[in-house]
Amino acid sequence: MNKASVADLRINYVTNELLEKNVFNDPVRQFEIWFKDAKDSGIREPNAMVLSTIEDNKPSSRVVLLKGFDSEGFVFYTNYLSDKGIQMAETPFVSLNFFWDILERQVRVEGTVEKVSEKDSDEYYWSRPRGSQIGAWVSNQSSVVETREVLQEKLDYFEAKFKDMEVIPRPPHWGGYLVRPEKIEFWQGRPNRLHDRLLFSHDGAAWKIERLSP
Ligand SMILES: Cc1cc2nc3c(=O)[nH]c(=O)nc-3n(C[C@H](O)[C@H](O)[C@H](O)COP(=O)(O)O)c2cc1C
Repeated sequence: MNKASVADLRINYVTNELLEKNVFNDPVRQFEIWFKDAKDSGIREPNAMVLSTIEDNKPSSRVVLLKGFDSEGFVFYTNYLSDKGIQMAETPFVSLNFFWDILERQVRVEGTVEKVSEKDSDEYYWSRPRGSQIGAWVSNQSSVVETREVLQEKLDYFEAKFKDMEVIPRPPHWGGYLVRPEKIEFWQGRPNRLHDRLLFSHDGAAWKIERLSP
């Protein structure tokens, strides 16, 4: 595709609006409404979100899956020794970004990040299909692998090792993170690029809502 034909891609957003009088004071309740809309919209992975971390003042982004949220924050699971895990250990501050194309909506979250309890990680680990549980043992996430065959050999090894075990232990380096939001912005596409942006910021005691210029 040449540059001009990419530049010509343009959608006028006309589907929804986001007005102060229609939002909850609590952004997590607002997120709940929007997340349900995303689930109902037919989007295949409404819980896919871009997680950005920092290493030596440089940002790094990748997609992970949201696995729960409540008044405490947003939870996802990964390998604690992966690049992102090391980055979050050094700088426990991240951003999350959801883009729900068909709804012309974006949600941006910024906050601190911490590990969830061992119990929560165990519960989620054991709720996953057996193949995914074994996969967590196989993958030294983010490290260089010589060939695809090396992964397959490791998979064979762990499948044999756990063959007779009904409950596979959770690898100690695999578990969840909780992002405690300090800011949550809801973005709704509107006609003529005059989009709605409502920013919720937490000052330690309460949430404040401000409209941002698009
Ligand atoms: C749709 C989608 C969902 C993903 N979900 C996760 C996830 O929940 N946890 C995870 O560790 N990686 C997930 N990944 C893989 C990550 O994007 C990334 O490749 C991996 O976590 C390694 O990142 P890192 O090397 O920056 O640590 C997902 C990728 C895609 C495209």
